[in-house]
Amino acid sequence: MKHWPLFGLRLRTPRLELRLPGPKELDELADTALDGVHPSDEMPFATPWTHAPREELGGRVVQWQWKMLAEWTPENWHLPLAVVHEGRAIGVQELHGRDFAVVREVSSGSWLGLRHQRRGLGTEMRAAVLELAFTGLGARFATTGAHAGNLASQGVTRRLGYRPNGVTRSAVLDRPVEELRFVLDRDGWLAHRRVETEIEGLPPCLPRFGLTGDASGRNR
Ligand SMILES: CC(C)(COP(=O)(O)OP(=O)(O)OC[C@H]1O[C@@H](n2cnc3c(N)ncnc32)[C@H](O)[C@@H]1OP(=O)(O)O)[C@@H](O)C(=O)NCCC(=O)NCCS
Repeated sequence: MKHWPLFGLRLRTPRLELRLPGPKELDELADTALDGVHPSDEMPFATPWTHAPREELGGRVVQWQWKMLAEWTPENWHLPLAVVHEGRAIGVQELHGRDFAVVREVSSGSWLGLRHQRRGLGTEMRAAVLELAFTGLGARFATTGAHAGNLASQGVTRRLGYRPNGVTRSAVLDRPVEELRFVLDRDGWLAHRRVETEIEGLPPCLPRFGLTGDASGRNR
């Protein structure tokens, strides 16, 4: 799409393609969320969006995607990529940057449909956006967080080489929650880089991330 080049961005790993969802993938994401993202007695998210009434959840999944794009600026962007596996969107891997051109730090958040979990796909999709961040965009740091009891998210984070980076506390559904914070620097990423990722369609998107690309493809 000429005026929104991010629709041409593709990240490909051995089993996944990550791309911005169109109408077909948005419906699939809503259906996946309705099938379940986590056990009903757990809440892994800081914003408990999966607690929405069933008749509203699908529409909210769709609207959240549009909201991220509608509010996008080069100084504060959220890239909510659909995770496509065997032709269907089965989850979301988001990458966020605030003042990225100056700070060179990204953060991330993600979810996969329950039935697709524990097969290494969570690791593969996070590795894909780390490749985009460090190789494609020239990031120096990537951060993430997981609730203290979220062993799956911490498992992905550990496998990819992040280091502990403190704890934050907040209220989720009126309960106190500890979020463990993690950070990955460039050297840590290079030491744990193991998922082959192909990036397609990035150069026309660089200004949207607050970057300018020179002819060699390097970003400033
Ligand atoms: C977090 C999430 C994306 C991880 O994806 P996944 O495909 O299940 O994770 P992987 O299969 O790549 O597993 C990565 C590591 O975590 C471990 N792991 C995964 N699920 C686990 C669980 N429920 N309990 C303990 N360890 C777990 C795996 O064993 C693996 O570690 P290993 O390589 O040392 O064996 C997925 O579980 C999910 O969507 N959860 C619900 C939403 C959520 O928690 N989002 C993150 C909010 S911060």
